[in-house]
Amino acid sequence: MNAVEIKPDIYWVGGIDWDIRNFHGYITQRGTTYNAYLIMDKKITLVDTQKHYLFEEMLSRIKEIVDPLKIDYIVSNHVEMDHSGSIQKLLEVAPNAKIITSTRGEKGLRRHYKKDWNFKVVKSGDTLNIGERTLHFVEIPMVHWPDSMVTYIPSDKLLLPNDAFGQHIATSERFDDEVDWGILKEEAAKYYANIVMPYGSQVEKALEALSGLDIEMIAPSHGIIWRSLIPQILKEYTKWARYETEDKALIVYDSMWGSTEEIANTLREGIEEAGIHVTMRNLKNNHISDVITDVISSKLILLGSPTLNNTMLPSMGGFLTYLKGLRPKNRIGFVFGSYGWGGQAVGEIEKIIKDISWDVPVESININYVPDEKELLDVRKKGKKLGKYVKN
Ligand code: FEO
Repeated sequence: MNAVEIKPDIYWVGGIDWDIRNFHGYITQRGTTYNAYLIMDKKITLVDTQKHYLFEEMLSRIKEIVDPLKIDYIVSNHVEMDHSGSIQKLLEVAPNAKIITSTRGEKGLRRHYKKDWNFKVVKSGDTLNIGERTLHFVEIPMVHWPDSMVTYIPSDKLLLPNDAFGQHIATSERFDDEVDWGILKEEAAKYYANIVMPYGSQVEKALEALSGLDIEMIAPSHGIIWRSLIPQILKEYTKWARYETEDKALIVYDSMWGSTEEIANTLREGIEEAGIHVTMRNLKNNHISDVITDVISSKLILLGSPTLNNTMLPSMGGFLTYLKGLRPKNRIGFVFGSYGWGGQAVGEIEKIIKDISWDVPVESININYVPDEKELLDVRKKGKKLGKYVKN
């Protein structure tokens, strides 16, 4: 597909990664895009570049509009290599371009590429006149890395926020009103949960910094461009940044011989009896990057594992390592499991969720070998009790 004019003289010239299914451990069932934007003004400016292997795709789109030799500025909003990975190759065809980046951006780019490029460092509040337009820069540290910043163009009411508001979707459509909102919301939530969740307070600060801007279009560096659903996506981001959840439950578990699974199902019945919606995720069949997307909206999270070799199952260990790093807040936690001897898994999981400050109001369940009828009755009652906590 060709370059797409998103505003007068501003073009999407990104690359579409149709086949990527694993983005550093995040399963991207719908692929992704790396969006770069070319601004045709007196000073020709490219905002962000491309993952290295899609450089030629981006270059062919740039060439539809202009000879790359004429590019004056490359704005690097973020160092991560999905956006900076083509700078070196681009400089070979645009040798006069100056790199505009934050202080940490310069440090990061030097560490990544070991090159003494022509840098111009900017900080929050700085501007750069490129002719008809003036670019404004706002640093948004930790959304996604310490170097992250956004570029704002007041005359076009256009925000170029790099990772923020992104989604991993590969499509030929470029705008939010061309793709189903349900899909966009799901992918934006998954993106937030897997990439941005640990930085809720920084996201709140970034939203505050951006709230005074007159924005008509948000063009992130992954996925579609927001022009019709800006209030909707801002509302979701505000909710996620505040760690707000819905009154629903998520059961994440793995099982060896079926006992932990039977407990999981019985807990589900009890919670449902209390009128609470439950989602079940068996770690044998669900990837952690998908499960974490369920975590973002669930108030009650139940974690179940049998004890194997005096500890939890490796699948639960992996999930909890991921969870600890992403640090979702304001959750009610509950732990269950089964064991033959030892039975350490439940205590270990409990310690981890208490360490990330989850509320654990109901005593855990740890059943020897196979639950009997009476035990299952108690499990069900506990499920109902947990369901009532969700409502409070
Ligand atoms: Fe899309 Fe943090 O890079």
